[in-house]
Amino acid sequence: MTRPLCLICHRGRLWQSRFVTTHVLAIDQGTTSTRAIVFNHAGVPIASGQREHRQVTPAPGWVEHDPLEIWDATRDVVAQALAAANLTRADLAAVGITNQRETTVVWDRVTGQPVHPAIVWQDTRSQAIVDRLAQGPDAELVRHATGLPLATYFAGTKLMWILENVPGVRQRAQAGEVLFGTVDSWLVWNLTGGPDGGIHVTDVTNASRTLLMDLETLDWREELLAALDVPRTMLPAIRSSSEVYGRARVPVLAGVPIAGILGDQQAAAFGQAAFDAGDTKSTYGTGNFLLVSTGERIVRSQHGLITTVAYRLGDAPARYALEGSVAVTGSLVQWLRDQLGLVDSAPEIEALAGTVADNGGVFVVPAFSGLFAPYWRPDARGVIVGLTHFVGKGHIARAVLEATAFQTVDVLEAAQADVGMRLSELRVDGGMTANGLLMQVQADLLGVDVVRPSVAQTTALGAAYAAGLAVGYWESLEQVRENWREGARWSPAMPPGEATALTGQWHRAVERSLGWVE
Ligand SMILES: Nc1ncnc2c1ncn2[C@@H]1O[C@H](COP(=O)(O)OP(=O)(O)OP(=O)(O)O)[C@@H](O)[C@H]1O
Ligand SMILES: [Mg+2]
Repeated sequence: MTRPLCLICHRGRLWQSRFVTTHVLAIDQGTTSTRAIVFNHAGVPIASGQREHRQVTPAPGWVEHDPLEIWDATRDVVAQALAAANLTRADLAAVGITNQRETTVVWDRVTGQPVHPAIVWQDTRSQAIVDRLAQGPDAELVRHATGLPLATYFAGTKLMWILENVPGVRQRAQAGEVLFGTVDSWLVWNLTGGPDGGIHVTDVTNASRTLLMDLETLDWREELLAALDVPRTMLPAIRSSSEVYGRARVPVLAGVPIAGILGDQQAAAFGQAAFDAGDTKSTYGTGNFLLVSTGERIVRSQHGLITTVAYRLGDAPARYALEGSVAVTGSLVQWLRDQLGLVDSAPEIEALAGTVADNGGVFVVPAFSGLFAPYWRPDARGVIVGLTHFVGKGHIARAVLEATAFQTVDVLEAAQADVGMRLSELRVDGGMTANGLLMQVQADLLGVDVVRPSVAQTTALGAAYAAGLAVGYWESLEQVRENWREGARWSPAMPPGEATALTGQWHRAVERSLGWVE
């Protein structure tokens, strides 16, 4: 990264970046909504905009988004955030992007129109393709090179599904007429001009979720493209997570450098300042995602975790992480709200669960799209076990919250087994961490303190840091680390024997969810 020197002090961009452009904007394009947040130099959010988008479920197991709706929401929330902050694009040092990962978009490079709705990470329609790959000659190569299990979760088999099922797309891809991207690529292409010269890039963290990138070379690998039969012409260039990719050309952000891209979970880890080997965070959102940094080492899990790129700053070596991806946590609370109607809003679950002293013997295993880490069982489906006449809705609510905590115990145990360490405390973030009862249960079951930073919007913050570091708005990771502040802490209060017994019952419940789909 070359940085122009400050015209006054000739020592870096301090003057220019800190006193002319005073803020950094992060766009957080999530599974359920798009947010834009303006941060100041202390890493404190000063204003935001947010808009939800439709979850389209045309068949069991299918989940789609409209890429144009997401692009529209993006411009809208950026304008909202800037207006609320009373700032304009001229005040922004940089824009960072973070996104729901794996969600797959294919679009026409001339018209800018998607050729198919985005296939969302939760979508399981590519299971037959996954089975075919798993039985094929390249299965082991794909697993080893990418650090990923063969599962519908990742972008590659969703892209294969589009290439195989949408008429004409394969030919158009070979002719260079259509482009593939995860949502970061889709947004950057549109932000930088779309059909009129938009740049087609992704970052290493998003690329590491496609089944197409080699973890060691950090580039698309021919054997992987051949195994999945994906034309190289449609793929974006893989760049670092922190560098100036280009300048925005949409009116609301015209001229502002787009300087950071991180997948949402990697962004949350970055926003938690989890930079060094052993640093760990768990994000509680639609799903739950535990990341344990392994520094410059690529650690291949023996216990059902994923190996993923954590971040790469400019030309510096990439940093890696082990990840425990849990598909359904906050979305189980939404299910309780929207499908069962037991609560009117997600936060109400805390009061309902608080009406009972314990789960009354009930366990909910939310294997709605099979089980992800550490089980990787597509044949599992959701179960509620332990029902008796005694059980009421308070117990169900409590079991729903506990499902999140137990799944986190499972992935944390796997991570500890993989890296041979015991965690002394767990850093947490995300929407569900507003639930104090859940956080207490989590500390009880883990037997370690659970700590939430003062800025719980770590996903957006991480993207802001990646972008701000690229343009010299922040100077070092050290400065970022110093911005981290403890906001709340929960300590274990349950006897360890009781926690072990409950976790044992949870595992018996998990067994009952397995093998349901034939
Ligand atoms: N007080 C609460 N108790 C339990 N669950 C909650 C509470 N508040 C929010 N949630 C759940 O947290 C999730 C929202 O959290 P968050 O906004 O961090 O999600 P997210 O994964 O970032 O969303 P997206 O995928 O759109 O980015 C929802 O699934 C919601 O059900
Ligand atoms: Mg999110």
